[in-house]
Amino acid sequence: MKWWQTAVFYQIYPRSFADGNGDGIGDFPGMIQKLDYLQALGIDAVWLSPHFPSPMFDCGYDISDYTGVAPEYGTLDDFQHFLDEAHSRGMYVILDLVLNHTSDQHPWFIESRSNRTNPKRDWYIWKDGKNGGPPNDWCSCFDGAAWEYDEETSQYYYHYFFKQQPDLNWRNPAVKQAMFDAARFWLRMGVDGFRLDAIGTIFERPDLRNHNTGFNLASLRDLERRSTTPEERRQFVRQWIRTFHHQFGQPGLHELMKELRSVLNEFPGDRMLVGEDADVAYLGNGHDELNMVFNFPLMDAVPLTPASVRKNQKNRLALLAPVNGWPCNTLGNHDAGHFIARFNPTEAPALARLHTAVLLTLRGTPFIYNGDEIGMTHLTISNVSDFRDLLGSWVYNEDIQQLHMTHDQALAHAAETTRDKGRTPMQWANTSNGGFCPPSASPWLPVNPNYAQGINVADQDPDPSSLLNFHRRLLTLRRQVPALIEGEFTALLPRSRYLLAYLRKNASQTVLVVLNFSDVPRIFAWKSTGPSKYNNLHTLYSASGISNSKSAIRLAPFDIFIGELQ
Ligand code: NOJ
Repeated sequence: MKWWQTAVFYQIYPRSFADGNGDGIGDFPGMIQKLDYLQALGIDAVWLSPHFPSPMFDCGYDISDYTGVAPEYGTLDDFQHFLDEAHSRGMYVILDLVLNHTSDQHPWFIESRSNRTNPKRDWYIWKDGKNGGPPNDWCSCFDGAAWEYDEETSQYYYHYFFKQQPDLNWRNPAVKQAMFDAARFWLRMGVDGFRLDAIGTIFERPDLRNHNTGFNLASLRDLERRSTTPEERRQFVRQWIRTFHHQFGQPGLHELMKELRSVLNEFPGDRMLVGEDADVAYLGNGHDELNMVFNFPLMDAVPLTPASVRKNQKNRLALLAPVNGWPCNTLGNHDAGHFIARFNPTEAPALARLHTAVLLTLRGTPFIYNGDEIGMTHLTISNVSDFRDLLGSWVYNEDIQQLHMTHDQALAHAAETTRDKGRTPMQWANTSNGGFCPPSASPWLPVNPNYAQGINVADQDPDPSSLLNFHRRLLTLRRQVPALIEGEFTALLPRSRYLLAYLRKNASQTVLVVLNFSDVPRIFAWKSTGPSKYNNLHTLYSASGISNSKSAIRLAPFDIFIGELQ
């Protein structure tokens, strides 16, 4: 197997992870100090969200220099030091590669917008307006119309995300060359691969056809806010897709991904690519495009139920099988935030363990979002001036101006929409600022005050019953039990509402996982039709002294059982 199939990844959001110089912003010296923590946790690989110079309109996803390090995070030498220290602990490091757009402060765009004949003009998507307005009715998914008028040259430029993130013109070979060279720069330094940002939106329909849906982004976001039932959510997603249809998934991407793959293949050591798209379209055949794509449908289904996990695995594994794709599971990230925030607080500790057990025992490479291992939750931002993610302030302003909501309504909607809520600083200790930065510093986003209620590393470290130690135990188990890494997945109990049960089986081992998703005791009984060795079960992990008789396993509320059939 390849290293990225056996590894457990950990996503670091650099601004919020560890502040080494005490200025309230995470940085490389801080990350270096925490590598031992990650190693002891059982992490094999790190994905760094963007660490490049950025004016921070999209918290780092608006890059103004692809081969540099944001000064607030350190220097290129600090980066190299971090990489070497990670490698010396046997850990891999992948970076975020943002191909779709640059920052509007990137020298390429500054040149491009300077005049219509500048050689970099065609590096971005510039068009004339139509009938006194933008070239078409396309929306940005972040801030209204997709076209921004530029007074200087009297044309519009296209941006799928914020207007501070102009889309590159990937049909221009010079753009491809420059971006591939940026990727080579980091590969040469020794990084082990990339998480690809927003590849689906790299190309747009060249004839710029209107969508004519009658929706704009404000009305779409409002529809999202009002869609609460599963059916309403489905309708909302369909409407969202119709509103952006011509702006993603266009022809040309397969070829581009194959070219990017060959750039990685210029370097030794199985450098890898993981995409954020929720489909398998760009896995190519035989891994000649991406290596993995995140299983977003699993993340979106949290809180999980036995039925939703079975359905997800059935669909996902069937999608991956034809291209021999390897699954990649996650429950949270810097966009979706912390999965534990989606639980009712009284059940959260138990559900956090169940969900973590699912993540770490399903077939596929798990990605853990920083802070999820200690149960971090979301902060409700209560002050408009505290928003750092422009999405929050944009929603607030549109709700007031276009939808005439009250301040309280608009703030509540913005606080729910902003991704800041799940990006607050890592909670290292029960000391001021959660131990993230000194008392004298102000953290770049407020620290969630629940660090004082046990949601911090220092308090959980010595406590055997903590979520942190639960992670450590399961991660150790994963390393010791090859079937949990390479084994095939077979769902059992296809109709159970309360028990999620499955086998993980490789050539030499069969492991049974049973999870009780209900708040009452349940019995997992052997089926006469099941594998004949069921009653020869060696317990590998049992959350609360589950009794395992010859004919049944008794599970307490929210219990977890992992055993090996012998
Ligand atoms: C996806 C990233 O995950 C998100 O944080 C970012 O805002 C957009 N792409 C644009 O880069």
